[in-house]
Amino acid sequence: MSDLHPSTARVRDIFDDWARRGRAEGMETGHGPSARAGIEHLDLGEGSHYLDIGCGNGYTLRWVSAGVGADGRAVGIDVAPAMVERARALSSAFENVEVLLTAFPAHPFEAGTFDGIFSMEVLYYLPDLPGALAEIRQLLKPGGRFACVVDYYAENPESHDWPEQLGCDMALLSEAEWGAAFEAAGLEVVAQERVRYPLAEGAEPGWKQTIGSLLTVGQRPS
Ligand SMILES: C[S@@+](CC[C@H](N)C(=O)[O-])C[C@H]1O[C@@H](n2cnc3c(N)ncnc32)[C@H](O)[C@@H]1O
Repeated sequence: MSDLHPSTARVRDIFDDWARRGRAEGMETGHGPSARAGIEHLDLGEGSHYLDIGCGNGYTLRWVSAGVGADGRAVGIDVAPAMVERARALSSAFENVEVLLTAFPAHPFEAGTFDGIFSMEVLYYLPDLPGALAEIRQLLKPGGRFACVVDYYAENPESHDWPEQLGCDMALLSEAEWGAAFEAAGLEVVAQERVRYPLAEGAEPGWKQTIGSLLTVGQRPS
């Protein structure tokens, strides 16, 4: 992975460090409810080919593995070597799961490879979002779907200082702008919703309960 965009190199270093410090599993727990909601929209079945862009520790690959079966495939890609190492270690017993180190939109796949693509809390880090969405459309089979979840978006003011906290660039889009970006890339928006998390017993409601994660689902026209 030579010639990484400087902001992607910064993001790689941040999440490499998170993986080394055991924070990938915290993301798995913290993102679980909205990731499940997103994957439900993909309508995966026996034989489906599934891709998770920025897969972290690879938890969604293991979720979908049994459903896509021996004729299917669950592939994760991530730019952080320690995340890839973690995802491979946790997925070693899953024969149809594969994890690759690459900085999307760089990838080794042929056009029209995937029935369903998912990405959770990743796309706003990409320096060229329109280009990345166009590449996702290319990777989908006709009729295939892309489910994208973001917590950093205009309607969630509590997220607005995350770029400063993390020390990296992030693209702040509104709900309508996410929808428009999908459409501009040739992905028809078939669903857009806020996923609100259940309140843990005794806890005060926060933005996850009141504002929620933004899920946008796009479909490559048949
Ligand atoms: C906030 S974490 C989310 C991880 C995972 N999706 C989850 O829900 O736990 C963002 C992940 O995206 C990866 N990432 C960021 N930019 C990427 C890129 N251009 N290509 C591939 N992975 C990327 C990071 O390394 C990191 O693992």
